Formats: sequence, structure tokens, C-alpha cells
Amino acid sequence: MGKSKIYSKIIYTENPRQELIPLIKQYGKDKIFLVTEENVDRLWGNDFSELTEKESIKKVIIPSGEENKKIDSVTKIWEFLSKNGADRKSLLINLGGGMLTDLAGFAASTFKRGIDFLNIPTTLLSQVDASVGGKTGINFNGLKNEIGVFKEPVAVIIYTGFLKTLDKENFLSGFAEMIKHGLIHSPAHLLELQRFDINNIEYNNLKDIIQHSVEVKQFFVNSDPTEQNIRKALNFGHTIGHSFESLAMEQKRPVMHGYAVAWGMIAELYLSVKKCGYSIDNSNKISSWLHSIYGKFIINGVDFERLFELMLHDKKNESGRINFTLLSDTGKIEINQNCTREMVFEALDIFRNLS
Ligand SMILES: NC(=O)c1ccc[n+]([C@@H]2O[C@H](COP(=O)([O-])OP(=O)(O)OC[C@H]3O[C@@H](n4cnc5c(N)ncnc54)[C@H](O)[C@@H]3O)[C@@H](O)[C@H]2O)c1
Ligand SMILES: [Zn+2]
Repeated sequence: MGKSKIYSKIIYTENPRQELIPLIKQYGKDKIFLVTEENVDRLWGNDFSELTEKESIKKVIIPSGEENKKIDSVTKIWEFLSKNGADRKSLLINLGGGMLTDLAGFAASTFKRGIDFLNIPTTLLSQVDASVGGKTGINFNGLKNEIGVFKEPVAVIIYTGFLKTLDKENFLSGFAEMIKHGLIHSPAHLLELQRFDINNIEYNNLKDIIQHSVEVKQFFVNSDPTEQNIRKALNFGHTIGHSFESLAMEQKRPVMHGYAVAWGMIAELYLSVKKCGYSIDNSNKISSWLHSIYGKFIINGVDFERLFELMLHDKKNESGRINFTLLSDTGKIEINQNCTREMVFEALDIFRNLS
């Protein structure tokens, strides 16, 4: 991938409506559309109604929740665009969390072979992760993100005020991805997160740390847009994390993605110590901190085999060995680290016995 690709513009603002005005100017009247989901519409829809009326922007609302990140919802958006005369020069504004920006980004990228879209992420996870990096898609046949395309939004508007209505679990879920960003690329970012009081969130102080986190994601995305090599850094904590997430689903006790990633990072920090010489003191400190925020996922020895199987089935693995992204130091990644079954079981055992 050449460096000539143009990446989306990321705007940090106190007034998302104001920022939209110059961005939508280049699109014709009746060619701008908005898609959101029920919860976000209920909480934030009114904030946009004056603008949508004035600019005659038509709106479609999708039901909330991950279970709606599916083809039926894409069809609903396509039908809405089609019925309302959208053409190749139209713009779709996506207002919502990661479920909505993934789904609507995919609908826009495929409608008439792709129309422009703009993301206004409303959850912490979508601000620091999902809405940046050009991955769009839906779940299919029970598989997560099975269908999708890489396509960058024309812009991403980040307004931390949206997070005031977000519940603590969803906040912490996004916070885990920020911690990952600190661990894989920036000791300074990690430190500011450690200093951030999650029990007394200062929304005004969030803008800078969110920006630092987005910058880490952008660094990896810009260096390797289609995940051939170093973008894999963003998978830190995710190999074991995804296996926890899937097991939790199988055992009908689903967990939030960020929580699973936080637990996965604890186990993968252990592997980093064993395999890449990461400092054991740092690993212990960070693991206790993660444990104090995210608690732990209860597993027993019987689950290890299934967790290992789930890791093996992860699409990132080659020839029966598990391929991890690990750390040799905070901010120093080591990609394509093969770990043996024995080592993985050891990490799971350490995780299981955390107290
Ligand atoms: N494209 C990528 O690179 C990428 C990266 C990470 C995650 N994702 C995807 O993102 C999705 C998860 O994102 P998410 O955690 O934002 O989920 P989500 O969009 O489902 O939002 C979580 C919950 O918060 C609600 N919500 C949204 N904004 C709110 C607000 N301001 N106040 C109160 N409630 C609000 C939603 O209605 C929902 O109930 C998954 O589908 C995942 O696959 C994509
Ligand atoms: Zn993640």
C-alpha cells in the first residue's frame, strides 16, 4: 500500500453540529442523509434536528445493539437511500457507536459502488477505535465481522460530550482499548491513563487523552492499512481476549469486548515476559491495575482446551500454532510470536489464579 492514500480527517470539537456545516457544503441539496440507532436517537437526536431540518437531511433509525449489525439493517439503509434518491455524489452521516459506524459504513461503501460517509462516534470504543481505520462490516452466519470492506470515512467528528450519557461498563470497554494503545506504542499515554480517575470522570479532560489514543491507532493504520504486518500490533490482548469472548458467548454469559481485551492483555503480558523479555515488575503492576478495574473472567482447567481451540481457529493463525502480537517493552511490539500450547496453558493458569 502506497503512502499516497488520503486518510480521513479527524475533528475534535465541542460542537459537532457546527463542524458538520462546512463538511456537508460540497454535497447537493437533498443528497445528504443521516443514519443513527434508537438509543442514540432518543438521547441525542434532538441535538441534530434543527440542522437536519434546515439542511433537509433525511434520517433513518436502526434498532440498537450488536444483534442488529446484520444484513437486514444494511438492506434497510440501502432501501432508505434508494427511495430518497441518493446518488453517487451523496453523503451518509453515521451517528452512533461502533455497531452503527461499522454497519452504516458498510452500507455506504457498497451503495452504488460506494458513496461518501462521515462518522460521528458516540461511544468511547467507537471514538478511539471503531470509527478510525477504515474497517467496515457486519456479522454473518453467527460470525463476527464476516462480511465487510476497507473504506475510510471522509471525516470523523469526535465530541466527548456524547460520553456523558454512556454507562460505566461501556465507558470501561472503550478505556481498555486505550490502555492497549498505551501499551503497544506510548508509555506516556499509558501513564496518563493510569492517572485518569475512572471513578470520577472529568469529561473536559477526556479530549486530549482520546486524541492521543486515536493518534496511536492512526499511526498503525497509516503504516499498514490492510494489516499485512505492524497493524497487527492492534491485536495485542485480542488473541486470548477473543477466545474469552467466544467462550463467554458459548456459555451464555456474554462479556463486553473491552473487558475481554483487558483480561486478554493480562494473559498476553505474561506471555510477553516469557517469550519477549518484557519486565516482570511492569507486567505485574499493569496486570494488577487491569484486574482492579476489570475484575476477572472465571475459568477453570476444563475450559483451557476449548479456549486453546478457539485461539487456533482464529483466522490470524497459521499451521496449528498460535500467532501472538506481544511486547518486549511498553511501546515495543513483537509481531508473529508463536507460542506453544504449554505456554498458553501456563498463561491461562496464571490468569485463573489472579487474586
Ligand atoms: N471497525 C473497527 O475497526 C472496529 C474496532 C473495534 C470495534 N468495532 C465494532 O464496534 C462494535 C462495538 O462498538 P460499541 O461498543 O460502540 O457498541 P454499540 O455501538 O453497540 O454501543 C454500545 C451501547 O451503547 C449505546 N450508546 C451509543 N452511544 C451512546 C451514548 N452516547 N450514550 C448512551 N448510550 C449510547 C448503544 O445504543 C449500545 O447499547 C462491535 O460491533 C465491534 O465489532 C469495530
Ligand atoms: Zn478490540
